Amino acid sequence: MSEDLWTPHAPSNPEFSIPALSVPEGVVAGSVTLIIPTFNEAGNIGELLSRLAGSLPAGLACEVLFVDDSTDDTPAVIEKAALDLPFPVSVLHRENPVGGLGGAVVDGIRATGEGRPGTDWIVVMDADLQHPPHLVPELVGEGERTGADLVVASRYLPGGSRAGLAGNYRIAVSRGATGLAKGLFPRALRGISDPMSGFFALRRSAVTADALKPLGYKILLELAVRCRPAKVAEIPFVFQDRHSGESKSGAREGMRFLAHLAALRSATPLARMLGFGLIGLSGFVPNLAALWLLTQAGMHYLPAEIAANQAGVLWNFLLIETLLFRDRRHRHWADRVGRFVLLANADLLLRIPLIALFVARFGMQVLPATALALVTTFVLRFAATEALVYLPRKARTARPTRS
Ligand code: GDD
Ligand code: MN
Repeated sequence: MSEDLWTPHAPSNPEFSIPALSVPEGVVAGSVTLIIPTFNEAGNIGELLSRLAGSLPAGLACEVLFVDDSTDDTPAVIEKAALDLPFPVSVLHRENPVGGLGGAVVDGIRATGEGRPGTDWIVVMDADLQHPPHLVPELVGEGERTGADLVVASRYLPGGSRAGLAGNYRIAVSRGATGLAKGLFPRALRGISDPMSGFFALRRSAVTADALKPLGYKILLELAVRCRPAKVAEIPFVFQDRHSGESKSGAREGMRFLAHLAALRSATPLARMLGFGLIGLSGFVPNLAALWLLTQAGMHYLPAEIAANQAGVLWNFLLIETLLFRDRRHRHWADRVGRFVLLANADLLLRIPLIALFVARFGMQVLPATALALVTTFVLRFAATEALVYLPRKARTARPTRS
């Protein structure tokens, strides 16, 4: 890699909003900011920082920013370890840990300032030494050499491996998640063999923190899909065993991952409408199941139809909430359920007069008239649900201003 990348170069960063714990004499906060998210990693900090110090070329233009959501003494451990290092170290401790790991990384990116002159590169890595610190110069060097905006450390290139991924179960999950993400985002993930990697270098100028709405662990996926870096490069790496402590990911992260994929995929109105339709179709299953149960239990089929329909409506509501409009839940939940259920039932009530209108007034056949009524009420219900249940706060509160 080019040597000059690591020599301190002005201007230093007055805008770096978090004061460094210690800035060694003669070192200028530099062209590489390492963002390291931490959640209870006290046992890894010392080893991580000393290995970083041993890996980074002397006279470096580099700083380390921990974005910490810990409930243990990790910040104090960092503070102590930061004292005799050749680079500045800061901690951004978040009292309100929104977005988990991904949210921490975005807050770190934001703290380096938009268009800040000092940081050319951001490197994101884990604190538990599963990402080898000695590869940091190589990641940045590869970006400089190729002119890429994003350099991913990949476990799936020749020379890379997932040695530290514990057990067949986790390997299968990781493979499945990678395949799913690549299948859903073939264009955004072209050239990225390991979109689940949490170890990468990013040109500061290629990212706008405000464009990111991370959800859980997969911050690289979020960056690749929402920021679309123009050029991507990769280097291989061997995913190591965790140095100390335990992994924080679990089944809950799996659910968040699926919700994250849905949120990324449904970013356009047309995609949201498609999702709305698919979820609507899936609602037939709980609807029919409830109908069967209720009629089995001896209920007359007409009231049973009405009750069973509500089961389908609630099913749709839960899926639409978590998969489509997760970031638009501004109203109170009871308010949202009420409005959603009303709209869903209004849809049924509207359908019959609409069919009658198409047949009697426009002379349509019953079948096409019914199909047209279904499509019409579907589009109306989608538009009404978006506007009346999930309209973004800004648009809802915007009032024409009088001068
Ligand atoms: N600030 C913050 N907040 N940090 C967090 C949080 C959080 O809520 N959750 C986890 N972290 C930190 C951990 O302290 C660690 O430094 C890093 O994020 C990764 O967490 P692990 O719990 O060690 O994750 P993992 O080993 O299961 O997952 C790793 O491998 C995946 C690929 O299989 C990570 O590198 C993922 O990014 C990667 O996708
Ligand atoms: Mn880990």
